[in-house]
Amino acid sequence: MKKQKYLTGITCTGIPHLGNYVGAIRPAIESSKDDNKSSFYFMADLHALIKCQDPALVNESSLAIAATWLAFGLDTDKAVFYRQSDVPEISELCWMMNCVAAKGLLNRAHAYKATVDANTQDGNDPDYAVTMGLYSYPVLMAADILMFNANKIPVGRDQIQHVEMARDIAGRFNHIYGEMFELPEAVVDDNMSVLKGLDGRKMSKSYNNTIPLFLEEKKLRKHINKIKTNLLEPGEPKDADSSTVFQLWEAFATPEQTAAMREEFANGIAWGEAKKQLFELINEQLKEPRERYNELVQNPAEIEAVLQKGAEKAREISVPFIQSLKEAVGIKRFS
Ligand code: TRP
Repeated sequence: MKKQKYLTGITCTGIPHLGNYVGAIRPAIESSKDDNKSSFYFMADLHALIKCQDPALVNESSLAIAATWLAFGLDTDKAVFYRQSDVPEISELCWMMNCVAAKGLLNRAHAYKATVDANTQDGNDPDYAVTMGLYSYPVLMAADILMFNANKIPVGRDQIQHVEMARDIAGRFNHIYGEMFELPEAVVDDNMSVLKGLDGRKMSKSYNNTIPLFLEEKKLRKHINKIKTNLLEPGEPKDADSSTVFQLWEAFATPEQTAAMREEFANGIAWGEAKKQLFELINEQLKEPRERYNELVQNPAEIEAVLQKGAEKAREISVPFIQSLKEAVGIKRFS
């Protein structure tokens, strides 16, 4: 059986939080253990430039993200783990993709459209603060995917449209130049939890409601204590399903522990007690990775070595493939 190629990128514009871990990092590391799959995971630092023009933050975020994956034990002998910018063939391919992608397709990209809508609402020029990077963001993403002919792309719901655009762009290229690309598809795990944040909305950097993954113990406890709850007193039954505390519990607990906590909610566990138990549960699981993480960020050279090995592996594929693609479009040396 042909191995399925899974590929996903993480934009380097922040420090990982519990939602990133539960929704993306943990399932990706699990998935990479499957021998029937090959996995390509990368730090999307070129994508970061679209949203973030703070050089220190881009760099710090890349380091934090790389250290996080390694701290949780991603097997980099098995998965190909690399920095997007260390594979320059992706940028070359991006240009080729720009030359087949229809502008009309990109007009429909929701990140761009949302900006235009907001501008219009504010009475600004529709393209106010829209860079070409933002506009062609899905083209770079298509290049990420197609460079490795990945066919399974695990993403959150908000990214499905981009994977469909990659498929569309690949189809156009194949139609013009011959079959070079497999058509990728998005893999969205409906069970994949979208964690709620401190205020009960989706945990997201843009809402400023996150719990960073590797807070030191004291701060982790403090953050958990800040989770918004209702005013029910100890002894009063509490609804588990609408509770952020319970949802977080479920994301880290075994099914047995989850059932037990559900009962405690029905029995009126005090919020303070539920939060205390939640802290203990999460802290227990993060303790060791946290130590490894702290060691790793103190040793950036070690991380760098891992990434350079990853880039080497990636380029074993991308260098010959970009050569064939160039030939396919008529760019080659005269002989
Ligand atoms: N755009 C994705 C995000 O913001 C990150 C990303 C970049 C990506 N390139 C990709 C995801 C390729 C999957 C495949 O979440």
